[in-house]
Amino acid sequence: MSVKLNDKFLKAFVSDEEISSYASALADAHEKIVNKTGEGSDFLGWQTLPFDYDKDEFERIKKAAARIRKSCDVFIVIGIGGSYLGARAAIEYIKSPNYNLLKKDTPNIYFAGNSISASALSEIVELCDGKDICVNVISKSGTTTEPAVAFRIFREMLEEKYGKDGARERIFVTTDKSRGTLKEFSDASGYETFVVPDNVGGRYSVLTACGLLPIAVAGINIDEIMNGAARAAKELSVCDVDKNDAYRYAVIRNILYKRGKSTEIMACYEPSFQYMNEWWKQLFGESEGKDNKGIFPASVIYSTDLHSLGQIIQEGVRNIFETVVDIKDTGRSLIIPNDPNNVDKLNFISGIDLNEANKKAFIATAFAHSDGDVPNIVLEVESRREDCYGYMVYFFELACAASGYMLGVNPFNQPGVEAYKKNMFALLGKPGEENEQRRKELEARL
Ligand code: PA5
Repeated sequence: MSVKLNDKFLKAFVSDEEISSYASALADAHEKIVNKTGEGSDFLGWQTLPFDYDKDEFERIKKAAARIRKSCDVFIVIGIGGSYLGARAAIEYIKSPNYNLLKKDTPNIYFAGNSISASALSEIVELCDGKDICVNVISKSGTTTEPAVAFRIFREMLEEKYGKDGARERIFVTTDKSRGTLKEFSDASGYETFVVPDNVGGRYSVLTACGLLPIAVAGINIDEIMNGAARAAKELSVCDVDKNDAYRYAVIRNILYKRGKSTEIMACYEPSFQYMNEWWKQLFGESEGKDNKGIFPASVIYSTDLHSLGQIIQEGVRNIFETVVDIKDTGRSLIIPNDPNNVDKLNFISGIDLNEANKKAFIATAFAHSDGDVPNIVLEVESRREDCYGYMVYFFELACAASGYMLGVNPFNQPGVEAYKKNMFALLGKPGEENEQRRKELEARL
């Protein structure tokens, strides 16, 4: 198993009996997932995706990625939420958070369309100056404002630089197979398109073209990612908390939540995990946070955040638990050198690998935090390899679905996201009587 739950720092908070007492709630959630009998069952496609994906499209993704790698220095990935977080997480986790600065034979990758910030977007536009560019716009609905605005800007840039025909060869679109403005426009323009399957929601879509095309452009082996996910789907198919750690994790979260631990902090001691944190936060936050329920998903990278948030975690309001990802093989090693003069008095750790020192920081913190009434769930992750990433994606997706069903919510919708959109459209003057009415109401409240 590439992800294993270690409950060493949890025993004082959650007993095996309590976990076992969830057997029937878990069986119910499992039934809903496997037999598609729960709310949101139209969006369970992620479950079989590791085996049951469009093999022709998968080959087309690899070919497009090879073409993109050859024809550009800069690859712009336009998308928001589930349409970009998984790809960014993979690139940073498997390659590096400094991917763009590495010596490599793959293009630099910039993520756009995930905000409406003028400075963020114009900075990326400037970074394209004098460079060859390809663009992948990703939007399942094909109507999301943030990526649509960025796409308009980059489309114009590409058409100006390469002409309409040249731009067509450099624009790749990932969207619904038949619906939405983006699909209509892409077909009319002749762009190469990839599909987000109907039965896979945005935040569960990283193992579709949504994630796989940008990941493949970064030179990452997507076959290995799918192999890892397939292994997870097989190993995590049993409804037994003693054999299925994704389900054990889901049960423990629910137990802690019922006990008032309403904030979960995902922690890792590797900076390469930062965007995994972001992906995980969206997955769990959007899936569980509804009907006035849900654990608030927060995240930290240690040691960095031990010196910013460590104090509040250790001694603030006791509504927190932590899930610590312990990456066994980080892929690198660095020995602390000896200093004959010992000017910094650090010779007691000279000759030690930083991985070992980091592990001590983890154990020290896990004791301190659990002694401070912050239960620690530890997820041991084998490595930063592709297969392990794929395994982790499936592990969290399954845990999230089970946890959401046990919480009593539909883990596959996100009705709350519409509220800001309605207000924003009204304030931006989108035509329509309803928008006009809302605009007047909002402006009167300003
Ligand atoms: O999980 C989800 O469905 C959302 O977070 C979407 O991924 C996000 O809102 C982007 O939507 P779209 O891909 O339709 O532009």
